[in-house]
Amino acid sequence: MGSKIKIDRALAPIGGLLTLSERFITGDNPLGILAQAAILVRGEKILWVGKQDDVPASFDLTEADIVDLSGETVMPGLIDCHTHLVFSGSRAGEFDLRVKGATYLEILKAGGGIGATVRATQEASFDELYDLGIQRLSHMMRRGVTTVEAKSGYGLSPEGERRLLEVMRALDRDHSAEIVPTFLGAHTIPPRYKENPGKYVESVIQEMIPDVADKSLAEFCDVFCEEGVFDVTASRKILETARQYGLRLKIHADQLAASGGGALAAELKATSAEHLEYLPEAVIPAFRDAGTVAVLLPVAGLYLMMDRIPPVASLRRQGVPIAIATDFNPGSAPCLSLLTTMTLAAATYRLSTEEIIKGVTIHAARAVGREKVIGRVEEGYQADFSMFPVRDYALIVTTFGETLPTRVMKRGKWVPLASSTQPLKTVV
Ligand code: NIG
Ligand code: FE
Repeated sequence: MGSKIKIDRALAPIGGLLTLSERFITGDNPLGILAQAAILVRGEKILWVGKQDDVPASFDLTEADIVDLSGETVMPGLIDCHTHLVFSGSRAGEFDLRVKGATYLEILKAGGGIGATVRATQEASFDELYDLGIQRLSHMMRRGVTTVEAKSGYGLSPEGERRLLEVMRALDRDHSAEIVPTFLGAHTIPPRYKENPGKYVESVIQEMIPDVADKSLAEFCDVFCEEGVFDVTASRKILETARQYGLRLKIHADQLAASGGGALAAELKATSAEHLEYLPEAVIPAFRDAGTVAVLLPVAGLYLMMDRIPPVASLRRQGVPIAIATDFNPGSAPCLSLLTTMTLAAATYRLSTEEIIKGVTIHAARAVGREKVIGRVEEGYQADFSMFPVRDYALIVTTFGETLPTRVMKRGKWVPLASSTQPLKTVV
């Protein structure tokens, strides 16, 4: 008789399990939902998933931590695939300026916006930025998020950008949340380069990208491709260089005007393009063919008081994967809750509950290049889960951030969750 395989954790029975696994997805069951399911975890990974009654006898559960989740809905750990996680300083005053009619780009040009955060971030110590990052990650995890993409972009110098990416590396090491680091040195032109923006682009290309790549500080390179920021020519130069250095590509594209960022994303086969309020319909087939994920950011649309949404119906029709993220940042989206963002995305973009859930799991995983590792409950995938105290999973999407998880697991370990009523220290 062969020896049995020891199980570390057994989750069973589960009221409803949204597996998002190809094995269980059918036309009638687009999220691969299993009732009375079981998940067996060994180390950091999922060893087995299926119906509770079908658990094979070859597994030894005698020493397993067995958790009864009847009545709960289990989802893959949520993925926030677009954030500007590390910065210091508040820009709350800009909200009121926009209420009174100022635009995002006017505020940026007048020295506010990203520039204001760059100054405040420069003044903060490494430890201050690290502490803010820890608090923010804990807040996100309390809301079911287990993986966070995080962009630099508030340094805008070789040292400043490197420091932000080093803070992210320390956060990834010390916090149970997983960070996907993105270099966004091309976030805006710093004032000292106002007369010669091309020189800043040269610095990004010749100094920053080689340094970031040499120290393996980022997996992705992103660019804010927009009129008056980085045009298509500069963005292409930066992204092509980044690719030569082994980074994968993302673009802040067509957010404030049709600036050509979406077309560039398709041309370069970028992993993702983000915002996309002004994405021209004609670009969408190329997008689909390039396999680029459309990352939609409804909080930024709301806070910038935009009267335009991305071309959601065409993206859907053409089969472009749609992901949803918070865009957490101090200006256009001071929001840490992916759950709230999900409700907002559903209501403003008219995305179905299934589309929203895929948008923060399988499609978000693809947007961060981790689609083989996270975003599904499937054998061999990381044991990342969020458990919600509801039988009807639609409530997770419809309750505007109020349905919080009871438990969260990251890489096979339970995450200590702060009390849901704990006040948030000033983090935005
Ligand atoms: O995704 N659009 C550019 N970047 C961010 C905003 C960053 C900021 O305002 O500090 C965004 O909305
Ligand atoms: Fe952003």
